[in-house]
Amino acid sequence: MDPADGLLDHPHDVYPRLRESAPVHRITGPDGTPAWLVTRYDDVRAALADPRLSLDKKHATPGTYQGFRLPPALDANLLNMDPPDHTRVRRLVGRAFTPRRVQQLRAPMRESADRLLDALGPHGTTDLVASYATPLPITVICDLLGIPEHHRHDFRAWTDALLLPDPARPEAGKQAIVAMLGFFAQLFADKRAHPADDLLSDLIAVRDEDDRLSEDELTSLAFLILFAGYENTVQLIGNAVSLLLQHPDQLAALRADPARIPSAVEEFLRHEGPAAFAIRRFPVEDVTIAGVTVPAGETVWVSLASANRDPGRFPDPDRLDIGRDTSGHLALGLGIHYCVGAPLARAETEIALAALLERFPRLALADDELRWRPSLRARGLAALPVTYSTDSEAHAGADADTDTEADPEAHAKADPEADPDADPEVEPDDSSPTPSPAGS
Ligand code: HEM
Repeated sequence: MDPADGLLDHPHDVYPRLRESAPVHRITGPDGTPAWLVTRYDDVRAALADPRLSLDKKHATPGTYQGFRLPPALDANLLNMDPPDHTRVRRLVGRAFTPRRVQQLRAPMRESADRLLDALGPHGTTDLVASYATPLPITVICDLLGIPEHHRHDFRAWTDALLLPDPARPEAGKQAIVAMLGFFAQLFADKRAHPADDLLSDLIAVRDEDDRLSEDELTSLAFLILFAGYENTVQLIGNAVSLLLQHPDQLAALRADPARIPSAVEEFLRHEGPAAFAIRRFPVEDVTIAGVTVPAGETVWVSLASANRDPGRFPDPDRLDIGRDTSGHLALGLGIHYCVGAPLARAETEIALAALLERFPRLALADDELRWRPSLRARGLAALPVTYSTDSEAHAGADADTDTEADPEAHAKADPEADPDADPEVEPDDSSPTPSPAGS
C-alpha cells in the first residue's frame, strides 16, 4: 500500500503516516501528473523560505503539474513570479492594499453580514455555505476592488462559472474569462478617468519611482485578488462554523467571551485552513529535502495542512483548542509570498462569526455527516446544513418554517479537480489564490 493512499478522502488520517515514514513522497495528482509532497512542519517551513524553489512556471519540466493555465493577461500574477519581478509588484501592491483599506471595509462587512442574516429570518434550516459563507466574501471583494453595484451580478456569475464549472456547459469558463477581461479593461479605463477611493484606483495610481504595474500585471492582480479573496474565505468561514458546532465546549467558550474570536480564527486556520497546500513550486536545481533529492523542474507540493498538525510543532495537534498557542502556523504561507490578504481574511472571518453567533443563540448542525469538496488543495465543505433560531429558549429547527437551503450539488461541483471535463485553458490552478493561489 502506498502511504499516500486515502489522501483525498481522509487527509488527516494519512498525513501522520506520511510525516512518520515518507516525509517527502512522490505522489500522482488528481490530473495524473507526478509531484513531490512535503509534510513535516520543519521541512514545509524551510521549503516556503527556500529561494531555490521557484513559483515561475518557466522552471517546470514539461508534463509536470503547473496549476492554472491562464491567458497571459491573467498569468502575470504574484503566484507565478520570483524576485526581482515579484519584489517589484509586491511592493506596489503593499502601497495600495494598506491596513487603512481593510479598516475601512469593517463596517460595510458587518452590514453585509447582517443583511444576509436578516434574509434568513428568525429561525429555520439553511445551507450556511450557500446562504452566508459564499455571498459575504464576494460582496467584500467587490467593495475592496471598487466593482460598481450594477456590475456585481455579472461579476459573481463569471466567478462562479470558473469556480463551479458546469459539465453541461464546458465553454462557460472560457466565456467568463473573455467577458471578465473585457470588463476589467473598461473598468480600468473608467477608474483612470474617475479615480475613486478603492483598491483598483490605488493600484492604477501607485508608482515606485519610475515603476508602475503593467496592464497585464494589473489585470492579473485584480483576477488573483478576486479568487484569493473569494474562495479561501468562503471555506474558512464554513470550516470555522462547522468546527464550532462540532465542539460545543469551544462554542460555549466563544459565546461567553467573544473577545476570543480573533485567537479562535487562528486556531481554525491551523486546524482546518482552506489552503491545504501552498502553490506548486519548481526547484531551479536538484534540491535535497529530508534526505530525498527532488530533481530540478519537478513539481513540489508543500502541505500546509500537514505542517499545521505536526505534533513536533503543535502538541496534541488534532484537538481543536481556541486557547492554544497557534503562533507559527503556516495556513497563510510564509516569507515573500505570505498572503497579501491575510488581514482582510482575518477581519472578514471574525466579523462573519461575531454576527452569526450574536444573531442566533441557537445554532446546530442539521446533518452530522459533513461533505467535504473532493479536492486535495482546497479544504472546504460542499455544504453546511444547520438549524438556527434567534430564540435562545427555542429548540432550533424544531419548528422550522423557513428553508433557505440552496442546491448543495452546486457546491459539490465547486472544485475543478472534481470535474474531469473542466476546460484546461481556464482551470483554476492550485493557487486559489490560490488562483487557488493557494491556486496558481
Ligand atoms: C482564509 C483566507 C485565505 C487563505 C487561507 C489564504 C492563503 C494564502 C496562502 C497560503 C498564500 C501563499 C501561497 C504560497 O506561498 O504558495 C496566499 C497568497 C496570496 N493571497 Fe491569500 N489567502 C486567503 C485570503 C486572501 C484574500 C482575502 C486575499 C486578497 C484580498 C488574498 C490574496 C493573496 C495574494 C495576492 C497572494 C499572493 C502573495 C504573493 O505571492 O506575494 N488571500 N494566500
